[in-house]
Amino acid sequence: MSISFDKQAGIFNLSTRNNTYLIGLLKDKLLVHLYYGEKIISNVRFEDFFDYYEKAFSGKSTLFEEFYSEDVLPMEFPTFGSCDLRTPAFHVEYEDRTYVTKLVYKGHKITQGKPQIKGLPSSYVENEKDCDTLEIELYDDVKKIKVVLCYTVFNNIDIITRSVMVINSGNEKIAIRKINSLNMDFDSMDYDFIHLHGAWARERHIEKRPLIRGGQYIDSKRTSSSHNHNPFFALSSKNADEYRGNVYGFSLVYSGNFKAGVEVDGNDMSRAFIGINDFNFCWELSKNEEFYAPEAVMTFSDEGFNKMSQTFHDFIRNNIVRGNFKNSRRPVLINNYEATYFDFDEEKIISIAMAAKELGVELMVLDDGWFGKRDSDNCSLGDWYPDKRKLPNGIKGLAEKISDIGMKFGLWFEPEMISPDSDLYRNHPDWAIHTKNRKISLSRNQLVLDLSRNEVCEHIIGFMSEILSNNPISYVKWDMNRNISEYGDNTSINTKQDVSHRYIIGIYRILDTLTNKFPNILFEGCSGGGGRLDLGMLCYFPQYWTSDNTDSVERMYIQYGTSLIYPASVMGAHVSAVPNHQVGRITSIETRGNIAFAGRLGYELDLGKLTDDEKQSVKQQIKNYKKYEDVIHNGEMYRLKSPFETNEYAVEFVKEDKVIVICANIMGRPNPPVRRIKLKGLKPDKNYKDIASDITYGGDFLQNAGIIVNNDKDFESDFFVFEQL
Ligand code: DGJ
Repeated sequence: MSISFDKQAGIFNLSTRNNTYLIGLLKDKLLVHLYYGEKIISNVRFEDFFDYYEKAFSGKSTLFEEFYSEDVLPMEFPTFGSCDLRTPAFHVEYEDRTYVTKLVYKGHKITQGKPQIKGLPSSYVENEKDCDTLEIELYDDVKKIKVVLCYTVFNNIDIITRSVMVINSGNEKIAIRKINSLNMDFDSMDYDFIHLHGAWARERHIEKRPLIRGGQYIDSKRTSSSHNHNPFFALSSKNADEYRGNVYGFSLVYSGNFKAGVEVDGNDMSRAFIGINDFNFCWELSKNEEFYAPEAVMTFSDEGFNKMSQTFHDFIRNNIVRGNFKNSRRPVLINNYEATYFDFDEEKIISIAMAAKELGVELMVLDDGWFGKRDSDNCSLGDWYPDKRKLPNGIKGLAEKISDIGMKFGLWFEPEMISPDSDLYRNHPDWAIHTKNRKISLSRNQLVLDLSRNEVCEHIIGFMSEILSNNPISYVKWDMNRNISEYGDNTSINTKQDVSHRYIIGIYRILDTLTNKFPNILFEGCSGGGGRLDLGMLCYFPQYWTSDNTDSVERMYIQYGTSLIYPASVMGAHVSAVPNHQVGRITSIETRGNIAFAGRLGYELDLGKLTDDEKQSVKQQIKNYKKYEDVIHNGEMYRLKSPFETNEYAVEFVKEDKVIVICANIMGRPNPPVRRIKLKGLKPDKNYKDIASDITYGGDFLQNAGIIVNNDKDFESDFFVFEQL
């Protein structure tokens, strides 16, 4: 078992292959955090982890005769109302308008396997033996609140997850104002804070800054994890780089309002946390009602950021992504959006499909504009019936013709939205999220359906089921193109429960129902590109449209940043036309292909319009991709050159005897210095053959001396395949 409890010492030991996490039980009552980091096998003593000395202005805990203050202890689940006056993980308002909660240990249980979290997606194991779970029960004797902290320790991977369940077993109503899924106190502030920030078409750029005293956090108040910040952050030791130093990585299996960060107090202790955003949050519980906070995920790497990323990649591939497409190969697709936008008809789509099929593309995806009377983004969301002007034979007729060409067919939806100019809105104006007596703000000319309401969720499940059952559809692109504003109205139910969280529970229920009902349809997530790419969505979408920005240089940054936590296997990456529609840049078809290789390859242009040479290039790209995609999607990724720190981009994928290196020059410079790329993850005593040149190199040479690359012009790139001999 990877979890043990030493009753005498009062220590819970949670150990993965390389990490140890220790929780202390102080005097059989109070849970404190003792340690998280590299594995410790030897016996440990409680008192070696911290001093119990008194500090001025730190109140004495009411739980003990002796002097202990929660304010200077590293707490496991701090509540408001104790002497801990740092930011709590749990804050409750009671009906009598008191706020004090004191949680005391009541018991625990250790079991094999992992319970799922009611109403929320969470990680899973295929075999119960692959993880163990510790549930620690805490109790507030006065208000009769039961809190269960649930830790799952994975045996084959350095991941520990944490979630929290609350039951109100008292007689009065309670209102949860704040609940963090993870709280971790460190006794120093000697760390850097790394997170992924962005905006539309500029998702997940890396930012790193030293911890400062006071608070630092990232969050979302958009009812979507959003483009702006990703529910992920890392804390690294000062010397850490890709391959050296200590790095802690944290994430949340949640797609709504979140908050994550670190508070450094006056004693230079750092409190890291991640959970649902407490901004505007309120969740009332009546007697015997429960609340489940989302699952937080953590890993520790003593070999820098790259190992942290590899752990997250394995975890996402094996313990987050599920269903029939988890391990099966997925088709190379062509999407018509950038080729036609809203201006298409059946004939045009078929001609795009035919040109693509000739070059090896397997799936034709019809994007936005096929329904209602949607000739631009200003109408028809909600009216999910085919526009007969464009598609006289309907979706079925088109899909059958695509199938006759020998391709699969996929369709775009934006089911969570409603256009004011739609029959759905005319029939159900109250279904749009709104606050009474106030006008609703438009964004991309559209409103959001109120998924906090059951009947609205049922409506979406109903029309989606009907379309997917009655048409030969193999793939769905599930889009979501605005954030939610004016969402505070709680009047549709007679209790105070954050509309935003109810919306997220609603979308999860819809996705859970549809993906289970249609297991043979590949669902790809999208939110104006990668606006809601998070672990919650990946429980339903085995892949996600990484960004609306298809420029290959921009993609170097986006995909590099995204790879900090997400594997190439989930990143939709398309080759598009030049000049690029987002930034106007012209890059070669080879570079566009090479960069899209580091994801799920697709095309988003009319391939029929390419020159013959370009067509040959695309044909070769697809052939190569089909040959090596397994290495990229299931191999270990190594980041070799960061576009954020250099004028280059280089990533490597290694699986068994195959090695792939994708590299690019960003800006061309006259008389450039020699550029070498040193590989990683090879066997130093084995030989590797460069398939293109037929030259054999030693693994030690490739790792220590490296290959010289000559792609020195603007945006020039290379794609190497080495095979171990
Ligand atoms: C945003 C998506 O990210 C695009 O790929 C495209 O599907 C448009 N929406 C369609 O409106």
